[in-house]
Amino acid sequence: MGLLLRSILKTHQQVRPVSSVQWIARRYYSGSSDITASAMVYSDYGQPSQVLRWHSYRLPALTSDTVHVKFLASPINPADVNMIQGAYPIKPTFQQLGDEKLAVGGNEGVAEVIAVGDGIDSLKVGDQVVMAKTGYGTWRTHAAGPASDFQLLPHADNVSTIQKATITVNPCTAYRMLKDFVDLKQGDYVIQNGGNSAVGQAVIQIAKAWGLKTINVVRNRPDIDQLVQELTELGATHVVTDENLGSLETRKEIKSWYGKNAPLLGLNCVGGKSATEMARYLGANGQFVTYGAMSRKPLSLPASLLIFKNISFHGFWVSKWADVHSQQERYAMLEDIIALMSDNKLVEPKWTQVKWEEESMKQSVDQGISGFATGKQVVVF
Ligand SMILES: NC(=O)c1ccc[n+]([C@@H]2O[C@H](COP(=O)([O-])OP(=O)(O)OC[C@H]3O[C@@H](n4cnc5c(N)ncnc54)[C@H](OP(=O)(O)O)[C@@H]3O)[C@@H](O)[C@H]2O)c1
Repeated sequence: MGLLLRSILKTHQQVRPVSSVQWIARRYYSGSSDITASAMVYSDYGQPSQVLRWHSYRLPALTSDTVHVKFLASPINPADVNMIQGAYPIKPTFQQLGDEKLAVGGNEGVAEVIAVGDGIDSLKVGDQVVMAKTGYGTWRTHAAGPASDFQLLPHADNVSTIQKATITVNPCTAYRMLKDFVDLKQGDYVIQNGGNSAVGQAVIQIAKAWGLKTINVVRNRPDIDQLVQELTELGATHVVTDENLGSLETRKEIKSWYGKNAPLLGLNCVGGKSATEMARYLGANGQFVTYGAMSRKPLSLPASLLIFKNISFHGFWVSKWADVHSQQERYAMLEDIIALMSDNKLVEPKWTQVKWEEESMKQSVDQGISGFATGKQVVVF
């Protein structure tokens, strides 16, 4: 440290003047509101049930350039679990919550604006918002921050709180993957695995609304007929199990469905053998998009698909999409999706309510990626 800087610091330490920077910092962070927030937090990465804990703290006081929001509902998604384990590419922000620096779990949710600083005109009390970025921490009752932390949700009358709480990850992922890789025409086929996942169900419904046909691969299970019926009711054109995907008989059957119109878009949620078999169904110059790795098995691809069919392999990550696109573009997508929900073309996902209480939260988050689930787990505050 230079001599001059050292002597300036020393002088400041002795007389402790309130600099403008300190004054601003104090304005933002020192005062507390009379709202007590509670949150599921962690200070170290690890197994969710071991590192997550309940934390209560006073929400910072409102300033002219911050808003206060109250959360209405927040889901538990597979990526939330990976984030707590420290295995997700985006790391959470460890922020000052009361006396401690902690990360709040959860990435998705819907909140209502309950107070707005007088310097803000982009949001008003009563607006419903989603998070502007991944990693915000949505398993909490309240939050305070600049308006740029939040994205206004288009208004819609008959869209449920659960639909809004789960809109930014799965429906947005399905929407982008159906729109951005292949210029699909009415009647075209899309093939996907994880067809019963929340993303898969959104793909089925958005595809149907846009006049596209879907071949949906799912894992076999004792009540497979019921699953096939549920997905068909949602709008799936065909449902097949992954164990049959490679058999000659199934291959013949699937090819008879699409004839010369082979799918040009494949959506991969699972990886491993399921993904390899699915890729073989793509037509020449098809696009294979990987967005999940639920089997935790690597993707292995026969060279012939690249050499003779010129299939392209891509990854998609909705967080990255939100990072590199404007709030206006995201708002336009949310408007389209909300309109589909409002028209009952994209229905509320199956969900189970998680009790907003420490032990239930820990157990539910541990179950977050265990497979054969009965629907999205959602906390309703
Ligand atoms: N890249 C992105 O932008 C993006 C966005 C959203 C989601 N995702 C990812 O997409 C995946 C699905 O997310 P989601 O919220 O839709 O999840 P979800 O609703 O919980 O569904 C999970 C899906 O994975 C399947 N699955 C679970 N364990 C499996 C295993 N061991 N082998 C094969 N399949 C298995 C489940 O099938 P069963 O019913 O047979 O268990 C189900 O179809 C996750 O990996 C998530 O992180 C990525």
